[in-house]
Amino acid sequence: MKYFYKNIPHWKNDELIKSLDTFKKIYESRPIKNNIGGMQFPHMFATYFILKKINPSFVIESGVFRGQSTWLIEKTLPDSKILSIDIDLTNREYISKKAEYSNLDFKYHDFSNIPHDTLVFFDDHVSHYERLMQAKFFNIKNIILEDNYSESKGDFYSIKHSYQGFGFNHNYKFISLIKTLYLFFNEIIKKIFFKNYNISKDKIISRLKDHKINKNDFNNIEKNIDIYYEFPPIFFHSENSTKPMFENKNFEFEITKEELLNYNHITYIKLK
Ligand SMILES: C[S@@+](CC[C@H](N)C(=O)[O-])C[C@H]1O[C@@H](n2cnc3c(N)ncnc32)[C@H](O)[C@@H]1O
Repeated sequence: MKYFYKNIPHWKNDELIKSLDTFKKIYESRPIKNNIGGMQFPHMFATYFILKKINPSFVIESGVFRGQSTWLIEKTLPDSKILSIDIDLTNREYISKKAEYSNLDFKYHDFSNIPHDTLVFFDDHVSHYERLMQAKFFNIKNIILEDNYSESKGDFYSIKHSYQGFGFNHNYKFISLIKTLYLFFNEIIKKIFFKNYNISKDKIISRLKDHKINKNDFNNIEKNIDIYYEFPPIFFHSENSTKPMFENKNFEFEITKEELLNYNHITYIKLK
């Protein structure tokens, strides 16, 4: 399957193009001009558009990095509460006065009392399969998956990998495997010598991104999905993507064509 969709929202292409014009001006005021390793214009626009449409009163962001996405959420929804999570908050260049920051993984938070319309934005490169299960557990229905990599691309298991019949096989560098081995032994040695030591499993497991092909994954995902919508690229991207917003590339803007073509199938999901 090249791309999957289910109950896609009635968001017309004309409306997208009109919003794109408004968004261009907002984007000019972004705090980080060259957000290498973070979101670029097409996904920034998609996130802006989806957030405006869903208008959640509480947004959880997982994966902050320099802070461009925090800025976007704050700018798009000035009245919403924001929780911004990153296990490493040291890279922030834009620090919001409004968002609450945390370096505790999403799955360890207390979400026992959150608004029904909460939205979670995942840009943390953690397995989508795991993240959807956790969102389901917390009864968070609105989800944006920032990087929904296709086929053998990416650095973690995505929803697209699952329905395209791929697992995920991470191409580790030798030095990275040695580091994982070191961390593993380090934890075990501590456990041998200090009986009350709590092994930090996440330190090790989060480095292991392989996911064996399992054709059951997507059946279980689909069963829990009400809406599944891969937001369109601005221009044609690949056979694996939905119809682009523009047929040709005559779109004048200050940013480079290269950035305009940057796209990884950003996806909006509503769980049942
Ligand atoms: C691609 S960057 C996020 C980019 C950011 N959203 C932007 O567009 O500006 C991924 C971030 O996820 C963080 N990360 C890795 N594992 C994480 C986890 N388990 N929970 C939250 N953040 C995590 C990394 O530290 C990194 O800062």
